[in-house]
Amino acid sequence: MRKGSTMKQLLTHVFLFTLFHHSFATDTLKPNEYLLDGKTLVSAKGTFALGFFSPGDSKNRYVGIWYNKLPVQTVVWVANRLSPIAATNGTLQLNGQGVLTINSKIVFPGPSVIRLNNPVAQLLDDGNLVVKEANSSEFAWQSFDYPTDTLLPGMKLGWDLRTGLNRNLTAWQSNNDPSPGSYVASIDLKGIPQLTVWSGSAKRWRSGRWINGIGFSNIPEMSSLKNGLLFKFISNEDEVYFIYNSTDPMIVSRLMVNQSGTMERFVWIDSARKWNVYWYAPNGQCEEYSPCGLFGLCEFNGSPTCSCLQGFMPKSPQEWALMDVSVRLCAPHGAGLQE
Ligand SMILES: *[C@@H]1O[C@H](CO)[C@@H](O)[C@H](O)[C@H]1NC(C)=O
Ligand SMILES: *[C@@H]1O[C@H](CO)[C@@H](O)[C@H](O)[C@H]1NC(C)=O
Ligand SMILES: *[C@@H]1O[C@H](CO)[C@@H](O)[C@H](O)[C@H]1NC(C)=O
Ligand SMILES: *[C@@H]1O[C@H](CO)[C@@H](O)[C@H](O)[C@H]1NC(C)=O
Ligand SMILES: *[C@@H]1O[C@H](CO)[C@@H](O)[C@H](O)[C@H]1NC(C)=O
Repeated sequence: MRKGSTMKQLLTHVFLFTLFHHSFATDTLKPNEYLLDGKTLVSAKGTFALGFFSPGDSKNRYVGIWYNKLPVQTVVWVANRLSPIAATNGTLQLNGQGVLTINSKIVFPGPSVIRLNNPVAQLLDDGNLVVKEANSSEFAWQSFDYPTDTLLPGMKLGWDLRTGLNRNLTAWQSNNDPSPGSYVASIDLKGIPQLTVWSGSAKRWRSGRWINGIGFSNIPEMSSLKNGLLFKFISNEDEVYFIYNSTDPMIVSRLMVNQSGTMERFVWIDSARKWNVYWYAPNGQCEEYSPCGLFGLCEFNGSPTCSCLQGFMPKSPQEWALMDVSVRLCAPHGAGLQE
């Protein structure tokens, strides 16, 4: 599935939305209202819902956003990653100045002080939860500025250099725990700005530079992805970010960093009623960042995968034999055994 099918082919299988819910749900929350655990906000066209949920086997309650019409609950954003509610008595509220709270505590990411006169919180159809003056279209706060592990169409992954806002994706700890895990996907501004997946402070994967009209240099599949999706990399003195958009509203797609530190793009296939992994990176050890060290050579079908460039030899032949990637380092001939 990874390389074989084009977006056009997928399109023929793609979900035709049916309205399951004839709900009278609303998409907005005002200061004198509250959302109890068990109730949801639903965006205007019914695409996304916001409410309390428990991940996996956990009993903890989190406020999240998921696709309202898909039969498998797929959470794309979590408000209180670090502050779960232990019981089902959670209440989401908007205070009079425009700050969202859960059980009166400020646990949403972003500034704890917002000063609006007549605030409303609204769940938009692109999955963005926004807070704004009721009579304005300008957002005072938006969930798109504080991503969890998922990049939806229209979300920016990267920097607002004017404010220092760094929008990055952080994997969940586990299926039962959405708190931040060790893998982060961000736009690294050092050197050539590019999409980078980190494992703690170590680089795990780099997208390579952005080439206009082509895409990231380390993602050869990207041009074929352009069939149904539009990718952009914006870099100017104010902002540096990656963004994508679906050119066809029938294509339901998301990009995420998963719990093993892999970037995965999913496309919803309605006939199979499941998400299909359309693309992922790194694909195998050889695509990882510096997989065999500075003087090593990575061969996809090699056994072992790593070998040393001519003129170099394993720094520690004994450990090399044990196949531990972290110690498979090559050194110039003669240098290895002296250390
Ligand atoms: C929710 O329920 C828990 C456990 O019963 C209790 O400790 C907590 O005080 C309650 N919180 C609120 C805001 O009612
Ligand atoms: C919005 O309402 C506030 C009062 O709540 C008012 O001061 C402001 O001028 C209004 N703005 C617009 C664009 O109508
Ligand atoms: C994404 O595409 C849709 C439909 O083509 C368009 O309405 C929307 O404005 C686009 N959004 C962005 C952020 O480009
Ligand atoms: C990710 O974003 C958070 C919040 O802006 C920031 O504290 C953290 O340093 C960022 N991490 C990376 C690797 O960019
Ligand atoms: C992460 O993505 C890769 C590639 O699709 C997959 O093999 C792996 O199982 C995923 N990890 C998790 C925890 O889902």
